Formats: sequence, structure tokens, C-alpha cells
Amino acid sequence: MTENLDVVILAAGLGTRMKSATVKVLHRAAGRPIVDYVLDLAGQVSSRLPVVVVGHQRDAVQASIGDRARFAVQEQQLGTGHAVLQAAPYVTPGGRVLILSGDVPLTRLETLKGLIEEHVRSQNALTVLTMRLNPPEMYGRVMRDESGAVQRIVEAKDASADELKIDEVNSGIYLFEADALLDNLRRLSTNNAQGEYYLTDLLAALSDAGKRVGAVVVGDPVEALGVNSRAELATVEGEIQRRVLNRLMGDGVTFRNPATVVVDSTVIIGADSVVYPFAILEGTTRVGHDCVIEPGVHLLNCTVGDNVHLKTGTVAEGAIIEDGAIVGPYAHLRPGTRLGRHVKIGNFVETKKAVFGEGAKASHLSYIGDAEVGKDVNIGAGTITCNYDGVNKNTTVLEDGAFIGSDSQLVAPVRVGKGAYVGAGSTITKDVPPDALAISRSPQRVVEGWAAQRRKEQKTRDR
Ligand code: UD1
Ligand code: CA
Repeated sequence: MTENLDVVILAAGLGTRMKSATVKVLHRAAGRPIVDYVLDLAGQVSSRLPVVVVGHQRDAVQASIGDRARFAVQEQQLGTGHAVLQAAPYVTPGGRVLILSGDVPLTRLETLKGLIEEHVRSQNALTVLTMRLNPPEMYGRVMRDESGAVQRIVEAKDASADELKIDEVNSGIYLFEADALLDNLRRLSTNNAQGEYYLTDLLAALSDAGKRVGAVVVGDPVEALGVNSRAELATVEGEIQRRVLNRLMGDGVTFRNPATVVVDSTVIIGADSVVYPFAILEGTTRVGHDCVIEPGVHLLNCTVGDNVHLKTGTVAEGAIIEDGAIVGPYAHLRPGTRLGRHVKIGNFVETKKAVFGEGAKASHLSYIGDAEVGKDVNIGAGTITCNYDGVNKNTTVLEDGAFIGSDSQLVAPVRVGKGAYVGAGSTITKDVPPDALAISRSPQRVVEGWAAQRRKEQKTRDR
């Protein structure tokens, strides 16, 4: 934390090159809007609430950020200098101002600390974070004099052929003495190729006025990568993904092939859990320790306990899966599913708003929706809860220890009492008392010799 530091985050632009109806800073990388990563950094360098300059789709941007920032409005996007001017009323005179871009989310905290240290040590009025980039693309070029002192920044669109060859470029991150910033912001002009107020022109203004201007070159250019296109968004997301997986591996999680998995930055996984290729873990998903997440498992907003085994192709959303449960392969747990300890859900079983008590099993080919399933209930293969009568959803209750024979239909609302049996192939429409047997299939008839007789008749006809 640095004393007396205001942080301004520029986020008013639409991001035309994204070719999107959604404003650029709300595009998501690893499960979060890109501006959230910038807000995290702001919160780590200063105890003051950052000021976000909003413009395009400002209601959506403000709604997404909420109380994590204060907002300055830039009605028309007249350039980065004009954007900072809108935040000027929030800047504390006599302090310092760190300017970040809402579309540059990969900067490390250590790098910002280095920028601040260098700024203080050199007693600069302005210190800019730069990087060496090949090719330098459309970033602003950093011009230095013979002694190496920073003189000005030339935007790529205004640069001469010689200037375009310069490979030191502007990251868009700056630290200003507040007074130097406030005194010069209003003097910016739009006399350039884009007709905008360039914040970058303050470099020349300050250095020409004899103030100290410095630059810190960031070691890894990825830290200053801006998101201007979908391709850059993908690059940024790839980097965030690498950082997330490295952190999780540091915490003791094994990834069999990290390059193939997708794990949101919001996801937590416990030690000694093993994640197989092509798993996708999203949203608020939490996984305990000693779990096995097999190939192609897709979890969204799930809570998974310890020692849980999720087999290949299991898809779960909004589910709670307690310790020791075994699920899949190819199970589908929909919102409102809660599996108690040591529950077993087998292949091609779909659950929705269904709570399973400890040790309950539905091992094959079932649909269990709007159900309360007691402890140690055994649901046979192909059992279906008929929960929907065309108008309402109705509940099926299976009390502790009930045994549901294979291929049964439970027409809800219906209750099977504690320890009761349902014979295979039954259609249960009425409550079954505890410890009873309910069976609804028609009795079997055996006609001796029927098949042989039929074959004989067939042969006679064929002749
Ligand atoms: C800017 C810099 C360039 C630097 C690059 C690094 C200027 C003139 N150029 O160029 O030197 O290499 O960033 O990423 O500053 N914004 C507003 N209001 C505006 C214009 C922009 O809030 O009127 C915001 C954008 O939403 C974005 C940020 O400022 O978050 C940067 O704007 P962008 O248009 O992407 O600037 P670049 O062309 O990338
Ligand atoms: Ca940019």
C-alpha cells in the first residue's frame, strides 16, 4: 500500500475492434470481466477507492463494478487525456496518481511497486511503464534523447517511418505527481492524427517544462498487453489461465495435461486432487482435497467435498456434492442437486432439485427430479420420477432404506415409506407405507410351446 495515492482506471471506450455489442472492459477472461483484474491491482496498491472513468455502456460497467470504485463520467470519448480530465475532481492535490487502463489486465503487483519505487527514488513528476515489443504494433513509441532520457511518446498513427521502428512502447500505465498532472491536463490539444486529447502528450509537456520524466521497462511484455481485439483477449485469457493453474499446482493440485483444461480464476481446488485433460471448472466452483476429476467433466458453480470421484463426461451446474460421492461417467446434475456423503450416481443419470441422503444410489439410466431421497435408498436402473403433470412440478419422497426396483415410474406427488420395496417395472401412483411391497405390473402369463408353433406355421407359409 502506498500513501496518498489515487488510482484512475480508464474504461470509457467502446473497443471498436472487439466487434461486439458488449463494451470491451466487460469481456470476460477466465470467468471475470477484464476490468476486475485491474480493480484487484488498484485495491492492492492503494487503500483509496479507485476512480473508474466510464462512458460507453456506463450503466452496465457501473453495475458490474458496484461499490469497488468511484465513477467519473466521460460523455464523449475525446481521448485518454480528456478521460483523465474527467477524473481530475477526485484527484487529491499534493499526492500521486496512478493511471491504469481497464483493458490492460495482466500487470503484476510487483511491477507497479517497482514503478512507484523508481518514481519516488528519482523524484519524477511522471514515470511511465514501458516495454520492448517486436513487432511494436500500434502502441505509442517511446522517444529518448542521446543520454537515454525519455522525451516524448509518439502515437503509432502520428509516427514517421523511422519512429515506427522504435521497439520501446508505452504500456498505458503512468504514475504522476498529482499537481504536475492537474496543472497540465487542461493544456492538451487535439492537434494530431486522431483529433484526440492524448494523455501521452503530457510527457513532452512536462519534460519541456524541465520536470523530471522517467520510464521503467517491464521485463515481461505480456504484463502490458492490452485487449483491443478478440485475438488479444484470447492471448490474455491464456496467460491468466497459466497463472491460475500454476497457483493451483503450487497449492498441491495435479493437472494431467494443464494445457487442455479450463479453470476460471474464481475456482478453488484442494490439495492432492487430480484433474484429467479437458475438464472445465467454472464460476464459483469449489473442489475439496483428494478428488478425482476425470476427462471432460464440466462443473459450473458447484460445491464439491473431499474424496469425491467425478467420472468422465459428468456435467454439473449448481450442485452440491458431499465427501466420498462417486458420480458418472456421463451423469447430469442440474441445479438444486445435493448428493450426501458416499452417494453413488452412475452413468446416464439426470438429477434436478433432488436431495440424496448419505449412501443413496442411483447407478444407471435414471431421471430423478424434484425428489427427496433418504439414506441408503437404492434406485434401480431406469427409474423415472414423473415430476411434471403438464402444469405443476410435484415431489417424490423416498424414505430411508427404500428399494426401488428397476424400470419403475414414480408418479409424483408420491411417497415410498421407510424400508419399503417397489417391485421392478412398477408404475407407482399411490403412497407406499413403510416396510411394504408395492408392485403394479400385470402378472406374467406363460403359453407353453407358443413359439415353436409359430415357427412351424411360418415355414408352412414360406413353402
Ligand atoms: C493508448 C496510448 C498508447 C499506448 C496504449 C497502451 C494514448 C493516446 N495512447 O493507446 O500510447 O501504447 O494505450 O495500451 O493514450 N479511453 C477512455 N476515453 C477515451 C479514450 C480511451 O476512457 O476517450 C480508455 C479506453 O477505454 C481504454 C484506454 O483508455 O481502456 C486506452 O484507450 P485505447 O483507445 O485502447 O488507447 P490505445 O489506442 O490502445
Ligand atoms: Ca488499448
